[in-house]
Amino acid sequence: MDRIKIAGGQPLRGTIPISGAKNAALPLMIASLLTEDRLTLKNVPNLADVNLLARILRNHGVDHSVDGKRAGPVPHLGETFHFTARDIVDTTAPYEMVSRMRASFWVLGPLLARLGVANVSLPGGCAIGTRPVDLHLEGLKALGAEIDIEAGYVVAKAPRGLRGTRITFPKVSVGATHNVLRAATLAQGETVIENAAREPEIGDVAECLVRMGAHIEGIGTSTLHVQGRTRLEGATHTVLPDRIETGTFACAVAATGGDVVLEGARRPLVEATLAALEKAGVTIEDVDGGIRVARNGAAIAPIARIETEPFPGFPTDLQAQLMALMTKAHGTSIIRETIFENRFMHVQELARLGANIQLQGDQATITGVKRLNGAQVMATDLRASVSLVIAGLMAEGTTTINRVYHLDRGFERLEAKLSNCGAQIERITG
Ligand code: UD1
Repeated sequence: MDRIKIAGGQPLRGTIPISGAKNAALPLMIASLLTEDRLTLKNVPNLADVNLLARILRNHGVDHSVDGKRAGPVPHLGETFHFTARDIVDTTAPYEMVSRMRASFWVLGPLLARLGVANVSLPGGCAIGTRPVDLHLEGLKALGAEIDIEAGYVVAKAPRGLRGTRITFPKVSVGATHNVLRAATLAQGETVIENAAREPEIGDVAECLVRMGAHIEGIGTSTLHVQGRTRLEGATHTVLPDRIETGTFACAVAATGGDVVLEGARRPLVEATLAALEKAGVTIEDVDGGIRVARNGAAIAPIARIETEPFPGFPTDLQAQLMALMTKAHGTSIIRETIFENRFMHVQELARLGANIQLQGDQATITGVKRLNGAQVMATDLRASVSLVIAGLMAEGTTTINRVYHLDRGFERLEAKLSNCGAQIERITG
């Protein structure tokens, strides 16, 4: 199994190209199931999760091809994927696939809407919490689906098609919003989705659906109005830049000191994160084509208190990275995790490097230390893993991160992007 070895202590200087967003690419790929025409996606990041989902879609009968790779003057632009779901040959998403990547559960809505039937394995547990799917199922039931759970599978039918309705989510869920929104595009009549998630990746998918002929109003707000159509068409869409990758590298620069331009990053996607980093003493500046992040000499200031929240609040997917930064702040910071109940696995690994973090329920109190010391640590999930990379970059001596396959699920060319800016980081294969 691959490991990552980091010799900490180097400031980061240079340019880091921001890739297309994983959390937009995945649902955009799934949107291809809604039409028999070709959906072309540009700026798709080369990630393990993307490649696995492409395999899952091929299983359903989707034809998938990839254009030649990232030639040209804009290095952050990713690959171009084409998907054509002319004939869907299999409406089952098996456990072996869905258990490996939770987002593949999201094929449920589109399969049901287009074919009136879908058998999708329940995703099962996950390292960061129980992550139920009740909101997805209630939303689809409200659209007229008949849903049973049989042997760990969601067996969904809509023999007379789906019918538009008003759905008010009791809780904000990114996945449930994706699932119901896509299904509603092919339902009969109008669907109103209230308390919809406002994450930019939902807006990106909604804009793609509009290009495919869907009628959606309220994009970017918590109330979406969808007028169902009998069919959607093909389209071409460019995946938006990854705000979690942007925030992660911004935290890394804040952690090591230095001066980096995040090329292709867009400020409106990361306002809450940049505001937190500014409080920590980081200089942020809009520059042509990106965002410049710098910390030259100034100490890291603690952040009195921050809570993770649905967008536009501070994202749970950056909680671990911010915590890594706070381990060396001059004072005490409090981070409260309100989205997932068990998203603190990085805490004990950060402690191995010398961090001082007390956990109480959903709250972590981080008392900054003068120095972290390199050690062996274990990656536990995607975002926790990258927080260990940040901590390793701050630590004195060598840090070795085991089980880095978690990183490959969501960060494209992580070591290359960091080492181009002066980090001493290498992958040890095997
Ligand atoms: C998505 C993101 C993930 C991010 C998360 C929250 C992708 C591929 N994944 O995950 O990176 O951390 O949003 O921003 O985009 N919940 C229920 N019932 C449900 C569904 C969710 O109770 O049916 C709860 C979850 O347990 C969690 C909260 O709602 O406590 C938010 O989860 P949700 O927004 O659905 O996360 P995901 O879509 O799985």
